[in-house]
Amino acid sequence: MSDYFYNYEYDKTYCYPSSSVLKNKLNIQDASDLLKAERNITALRILELKMAPPKGSLNFDYLRKLHFYIFQDIYTWAGEIRTVDITKGTKFCLFRYIEEQANDLFRKLKNENYLIDTKESIERRLSFYLSEINAIHPFREGNGRVQRLFIEILADRAGYEVDFSVVTAEEMITASYQSFHKNYEPMDELFRRITCSKAITDV
Ligand SMILES: Nc1ncnc2c1ncn2[C@@H]1O[C@H](COP(=O)(O)OP(=O)(O)OP(=O)(O)O)[C@@H](O)[C@H]1O
Ligand SMILES: [Mg+2]
Repeated sequence: MSDYFYNYEYDKTYCYPSSSVLKNKLNIQDASDLLKAERNITALRILELKMAPPKGSLNFDYLRKLHFYIFQDIYTWAGEIRTVDITKGTKFCLFRYIEEQANDLFRKLKNENYLIDTKESIERRLSFYLSEINAIHPFREGNGRVQRLFIEILADRAGYEVDFSVVTAEEMITASYQSFHKNYEPMDELFRRITCSKAITDV
């Protein structure tokens, strides 16, 4: 299991010299202090977005806007595609193909009418889109938070509620690792557990 976990990796573009800590607007250079501050601040920003999700088509630009909003207080590159390659036991999309891959994926989502009245299993489609956004990993940091929020908004607009609060980080990483390697079953299973129709929850 521990093979799937990762920490920040050093790169000279994003990190302080000789450190794996990401340069940040708060100028925090201690990894655990940054983690704490970053989690707290982004939690508030995510809450704001959940209370008033932005309008607009659910395309790559939308995902980038969410990322900008969540991380605007912390990173100068909030909302911007990463300019380095990253591996986390898994080699995510090479940075120079991110735009192209993401546009293909979001075109597919549009062609599926954003899952509204989908004839297929909603859980499997949500599982697929979360897995594919994750495989692209468009940002240097914060992909998990932004992709989960995006999927919640996507599900909500299609009439479903997704509750990620019951999923542990370990479960999510394992399912993400498996789906990256084309075994979608653990992610499908996770979505079967956390997705329900809003028609049911409204009763
Ligand atoms: N080895 C792996 N293979 C595939 N996906 C992975 C792997 N490890 C982590 N992930 C995915 O990457 C996400 C974390 O990405 P990142 O650190 O950029 O964002 P984050 O917002 O800090 O995420 P989180 O809130 O989940 O910690 C995880 O939620 C998981 O979905
Ligand atoms: Mg992270």
